[in-house]
Amino acid sequence: MRVLIACEYSARVRDAFRRHGHDAWSCDLLECEADPQWHLQQPVEDVLADGWDLMVAHPPCTHLAVSGSRHFYRKQSEQAEALDFVRLLMAAPIDRWCIENPVSIISTAITPPSSDYSAMVVWSRRNQGDVLVAQEPAAAQANASG
Ligand SMILES: C[S@@+](CC[C@H](N)C(=O)[O-])C[C@H]1O[C@@H](n2cnc3c(N)ncnc32)[C@H](O)[C@@H]1O
Repeated sequence: MRVLIACEYSARVRDAFRRHGHDAWSCDLLECEADPQWHLQQPVEDVLADGWDLMVAHPPCTHLAVSGSRHFYRKQSEQAEALDFVRLLMAAPIDRWCIENPVSIISTAITPPSSDYSAMVVWSRRNQGDVLVAQEPAAAQANASG
C-alpha cells in the first residue's frame, strides 16, 4: 500500500509500515529525524491528493487537547485554525485514514468518539462517510488493570 504518515518527523510509524513492506512516506514541516529518503518536508495539504491508499495523521494537539482547556478562552482563533486543519485531513481524498490525538475538542467540534480505549483518540475512515472514533479513557485502563 502507498501510505502517508501525515505530521510525522520521527518516522517511527512510517518505518513500522516500511518494515511490513509498504511504500510508506512521512510528511511534516520539520526535517526528518530518521532517514530522509522517504520524507516529504512540506505542508501535508500539498500531497493529500497524491494517490495514497491509507493516511495515518498526527495533527498538532496544542490548541485542541482538553488537558489545556483552562487556556481555551484565550485561544479561540488558534483553535478554529487547528480544527480546520483536522477537517482538511478528514476530507482528504484517501479511502482509509485514521487521525490520532489526545482526548480533544475534536470530539465535540467535529465528530464524537464512537469507541473508548485510553487517553489516545483515533478517528478513522475506511471509506467515504464511514467515520469511526476510538478513544482510550480511564475506563479501558481500569479494565486492563482489573
Ligand atoms: C504532535 S506533532 C506529531 C509528531 C509525530 N508524532 C512524530 O512522531 O513525529 C504534530 C506535527 O505536525 C506538524 N505539522 C503541523 N502543520 C503541518 C502541516 N501543515 N503539514 C505537515 N506537518 C504539519 C508539526 O510540524 C509537528 O511535527
